[in-house]
Amino acid sequence: MSYEGKGFYVTTPIYYPNARLHMGHAYTTTLCDILARYHRVLGESTYLLTGSDENSEKVVRAAQAAGIPLAQYLNDIVMGFGELYNALGIGFDQFIRTTDQVNHWPGAQALWLRLVQSGDIYRATYQGLYCVGAESFVTEKDLREGGLCPDHDEQPQVLEEENYYFRLSRYADTVAQKIESDELRILPASRKGEVLAFIRQGVADVSFSRPKEKVALGIPVPHDETQVMYVWCDALTNYISALGYGREDNTLFTQFWPADVHVVGKDILRFHAVIWPAMLLSAGLPLPRTILVHGMLTSGGRKMSKSLGNVIDPHELIASYGAEAVRYYLAREVSPFEDGDITHEKFKEVYNAQLANGLGNLTSRIMAMAERYLEEPLPQERHSFPEKYHEAMHNCDIKAAIDIAWSEVSALDRYIQETQPFKLVKIHREGGVAIITELVERLRHIAHLLTPFLPETAAKIQELVRTNTKPEAPLFLRVE
Ligand code: MSP
Repeated sequence: MSYEGKGFYVTTPIYYPNARLHMGHAYTTTLCDILARYHRVLGESTYLLTGSDENSEKVVRAAQAAGIPLAQYLNDIVMGFGELYNALGIGFDQFIRTTDQVNHWPGAQALWLRLVQSGDIYRATYQGLYCVGAESFVTEKDLREGGLCPDHDEQPQVLEEENYYFRLSRYADTVAQKIESDELRILPASRKGEVLAFIRQGVADVSFSRPKEKVALGIPVPHDETQVMYVWCDALTNYISALGYGREDNTLFTQFWPADVHVVGKDILRFHAVIWPAMLLSAGLPLPRTILVHGMLTSGGRKMSKSLGNVIDPHELIASYGAEAVRYYLAREVSPFEDGDITHEKFKEVYNAQLANGLGNLTSRIMAMAERYLEEPLPQERHSFPEKYHEAMHNCDIKAAIDIAWSEVSALDRYIQETQPFKLVKIHREGGVAIITELVERLRHIAHLLTPFLPETAAKIQELVRTNTKPEAPLFLRVE
């Protein structure tokens, strides 16, 4: 099976700019970056889209609480997103903001008009509850005791208003069938099952707009100035508006749609696996190929939250350990298919064992021997990935892919133990040199395998091998 050759389009969710990004958001984004880098190494034209979901009441409230004018608050927070991405080595191709009237609104409005054309938008009265935390219409049965939203611990608003509805019910069966057949692949299988069970319970139409006077931000509904789009309707369209859908220049859209992978957390699965495909079907557009649904990152076993005081700031970790260490932890210590945990203690332990003593030390030992005993650098060679590595990436099993690289690190460590080349080379020069050559060769292969995960470290190792020199400083300094 060949995975090479075509373009690759991967998206992060667009984040609410109501607070700085934490490790959970860094996680989603890093998964996307790893997938994108893998495809770039294969030489495919690759596009990574990310952005901010701004037309939300949550954002308006946050700006008010901070006492900062809304536009400035948005700019500041979004600037902070960019800083984190830079610090983490996220190579994104575009950052889309949903308040961007030039790059986002035309696409959102064009898609709306397609839904109208298909007869899937109608007016009705919404009478019920709305949770601003979730930006979601909720029903009594969604709530926990005390009438609070279970995910957001807040009292939903009671609404009675005229809205436009989207005829979601009309597409439920088709969406289910496409998910069932993996035409729309939901990973992992447990999430696929969860969505199918949800759809089989019956899916009702969904309110798709809000009265303009009730919300501060929002994209105007075409031909009706009194209404703005429901924030999820607006947000989901970012995946195509950013590519130029509904605009004059839609080259990117033609080249990259449908998305190869939408990466989302499990909390926003239904929006992506039910509403979004239904919108696309209604508009006659192709569906994304894969939705990767990852778990939640907890800290000390509990959901990260400001009130619990266990929010881990990615900048802090980057400052102490470097971005590559953060990327390593997220890729290797967290399975993309389950919840994962991160604490400062565990991070340090993993860092010292796997990076300082592991890869870093291995590189130093091998390259010190190489510099001393090899006459010249290894001849250049093109490296490829093993089939099971391709397979892991194809299945978005990021951890399985980096595990392959790391089993090679352990194998090399053992090999050095067994063969003791630093001793051998003194009594049997040729035999020692042959082993050292093999070690360098295999180290270079490890660097290749690590390129999507630890791009800087991989490049450093490749450079050492190319010039046949030992590192001047440890790749990863031990942290006490
Ligand atoms: N704005 C919506 C997404 C719209 S996409 C068309 C949203 N934003 S969010 O900022 O609340 O969350 C964005 C992503 O971050 C989600 O995929 C969510 O699962 C993820 N995470 C937020 N907290 C997280 C953890 N603690 N752990 C892992 N991911 C987490 O939802």
